[in-house]
Parts: sequence; structure tokens; C-alpha cells
Amino acid sequence: MTQSEAAVAAAAAAKRVEAFYEAHPYPPAVDDLEGYARKWDDRRRRAESHLFWPAQPYRDDRCILVAGCGTTQAAKFAMRWPRAAVTGIDVSAASIAFAEDLKRRYGLGNLQLRQLPVERAAELERTFDLVVCTGVLHHLPDPDAGLRALRAVIAMQGALQLMVYAPYGRAGIYLIQDYCRRLGIEPTAAEVLDLIVSLRALPPDHPLVPVLRKSQDLLTREGLADALLNPQDRSYSVPELLDLLAGAGLKFGRWLRQAPYLPQCGGPAATPHAPRLMQLAVEERYAAMELFRGTMARHTVVAHRSDEREPAAAVDFDGDAWLNYVPVRAADTIAVREKLPPGAAAVLINRTHSYTDIYLPIDAVQEALLSAVDGSCTITQIASGIASLGAARDFFQQLWDYDQVVFDTSRSEGARRSAAP
Ligand SMILES: C[S@@+](CC[C@H](N)C(=O)[O-])C[C@H]1O[C@@H](n2cnc3c(N)ncnc32)[C@H](O)[C@@H]1O
Repeated sequence: MTQSEAAVAAAAAAKRVEAFYEAHPYPPAVDDLEGYARKWDDRRRRAESHLFWPAQPYRDDRCILVAGCGTTQAAKFAMRWPRAAVTGIDVSAASIAFAEDLKRRYGLGNLQLRQLPVERAAELERTFDLVVCTGVLHHLPDPDAGLRALRAVIAMQGALQLMVYAPYGRAGIYLIQDYCRRLGIEPTAAEVLDLIVSLRALPPDHPLVPVLRKSQDLLTREGLADALLNPQDRSYSVPELLDLLAGAGLKFGRWLRQAPYLPQCGGPAATPHAPRLMQLAVEERYAAMELFRGTMARHTVVAHRSDEREPAAAVDFDGDAWLNYVPVRAADTIAVREKLPPGAAAVLINRTHSYTDIYLPIDAVQEALLSAVDGSCTITQIASGIASLGAARDFFQQLWDYDQVVFDTSRSEGARRSAAP
């Protein structure tokens, strides 16, 4: 294909995606966002802020771009961050119209909306502290170009939250996408209903069946059409995603939920391979865990500009900066106190994890350390009178690995240096 033929094909693919989302705005309409807004108290906001910016003191007045916002996501961000300035862009006029309606209904004065493709984000003529782009890039004819356009509007010291599809957990989806393509199934209401009926006859061990069982999204007509009849969709394995980021001038920060990618968490830690897994370079460990877990259907990553002037020190337990870290409990964490393993005072779970092997039993001393986490004491202060510093370090590192805490590291020396003008 010549360059100009490729450009014509890419433009046609982009048009097909746009037409698809005009006809099938995503996600399905919601009538009530009040319950959602109630969930976002100051505690949750603070934990979220330190997840993206451990080294920066908490702020709730950032500028946020929701790129490819669909019907609802930009309004949700405006509700969860009432003091932030939120901008939502999407190529689909139907999605923007829906988002405008939410803005009116909920009086979201902090939300601006615009019909604009992510590839033209520069037309916003400003940069953002946080760019959120979930479920969008893998639908673009040229995801690299889309990501480069977003990278250009991330402020220095800003962050990107990116979600893209992952291949192995979507194997069943790709089989049925191909099946639908061969049959020429169109995403009309009647065809989607026929598809729903037909899928009930899949063999029980078809790779799509567990995906259908687990996904709330695929139970809706819009979710099913989005997954199975989308005109353009690709996925990224861990190494492909890391390459995508690097190619756009971005560096990996963390996984939004990291425990499933860490061999020291859950089932893999108890296998004979555990020591070998831990000898791998960290990116290789993530790749190995994706293969071992086998069912990851998406990756959500936090990334930063690779040209940051003073890169914030990563959370690190090797030197002594951790002594001044302030732990903050992550949202959606619970302590279970029933049916405990021998010697455990509680078992800690993060309810956003879908893998059932990812839980952390803790003993009575660890429980006392955890109870002393108040969002203002450092690890050193928390440990005082309860446990040795070594035991506290090991425990807080585990809590971090298992997505039980984030850290405000702004009081440590390295963070103070990187925050200095
Ligand atoms: C699966 S939906 C995700 C919506 C939203 N990000 C969420 O997570 O709820 C994909 C969205 O990307 C939008 N989209 C597709 N191509 C786009 C482009 N080039 N620029 C901006 N938005 C685009 C679609 O219109 C659709 O609203």
C-alpha cells in the first residue's frame, strides 16, 4: 500500500469508528449519578491524588482532560473533582450531546465539552495535569499518533491514565468478532438481539463464555455491540503497551491496580518459580504475570512525560526515604475477620481486584500498624511503640504491593528536591 492509500484507508477507518459511536454512544445511558458522586469523599480523592502524584502534596483543583469521554465519563470526573476544571472531548456528537445533558442536569459548572478527535487535542491550546483516556486508543486507526497528540497536552509533572485492551483475556471476544465479520452482522438493534440469542448456544467451554459471565458490560446491548461489532479494535500485551508509551515520549509510572502484575502477590509467590520471577527485570515480571494470569482483558496504566524536568522519585523501600512516607488507605479496601487462616488477625482485600488469590493475611502487630494509618503520620511515627522499623518497612511495602495503601512521599528529601522550583 502506498502512503496516500494508507492515509485514505486510515481516514475511512476513523469515519467507520465515528459512525459506530454516533449510532451506539457508550456507555449506555445512566439516569442517576448521585450515588456515584456520594462515593467520592475527601478520603477517596486524597488516595486517588497520591496514586497519581505520590511526591506532590494533595490538591483537588487540577485541570483534567477526559479524552474520548463517551456519554458519561467527563461528567463523572467533574462530579468526583468539584474543584477541578474538567474538559471532555469525543469524536461522537451523540456522546457529547448526552454529556451536555448530564452537565445541565447536575449543574456541572466545572465541565467543558467539545466534539473533537483526540488526534487534534492540540486545538484545545492548553495543557492538563491529568489526561484520562480509557477504552479509546485501541479503536483509532493510528493509536501511536493519538497517544502522541495526548502526550503533547500533558503538563510538565502531569500524568496520563490510559486503558487499552489486552489480548489474552479477549481471545473469546476476537473469535466471535471474526465470526460476526464472516456473517456480515451489522450493529443494528435487530442483529444485536439475534446475536444475544445465538450466543446462548455457545459451547460452555468456549473462551467467550467466562468473559460473558464475568462482565456486567457485556450484558447490555450497547456493551455487547461495543465489544463484538466494533469496526476497529486492537489490543496490547504488556511489552507492546510499554513500547507504545515509550514511542510517544512517555514513561511507565505504575499500574492503576498493581498486585496482579507483581509475582510477589498472590498465587505466583507460592510457586517454585517465585525466586526466578523475582530475578527478572521489572518489565519482564509484568509480562510474565500477564502470561501466567492468562485472563487480563485490559491494562490500565499511569504514565508521565519522559522529559519531566525533575522526575519525582518513585516509591522506593531501598534507601531511607520511606521513613518519611505518609501512608494513606486506598479506597475500596476492606479487612475481613471471618474464616481466617491460622495466625491471622484479619485478611485484607482490595475489592477492585478480580483475582481471588490476591489477598493479604495480617497478624495482630500488623493490624495495629494498619489501625494507626491516619493519613498524617509517617511510617516512622506509626511504627513507634508498635513494631521495629524493619518490620514496619516490610509490612508497608506489602500493603503497597497489594494496593492497600498509597503514599504521600512529599515529606521525604527526594520529593522535596523534585518539587523545588
Ligand atoms: C468505548 S468508548 C469509551 C468511553 C469512555 N472513555 C469510557 O471509558 O466510558 C470509546 C469512545 O471513544 C470515542 N472515540 C473514538 N475515536 C475517537 C477519536 N478519534 N477521538 C475522540 N474520541 C474517539 C468514541 O466516540 C467513544 O465515545
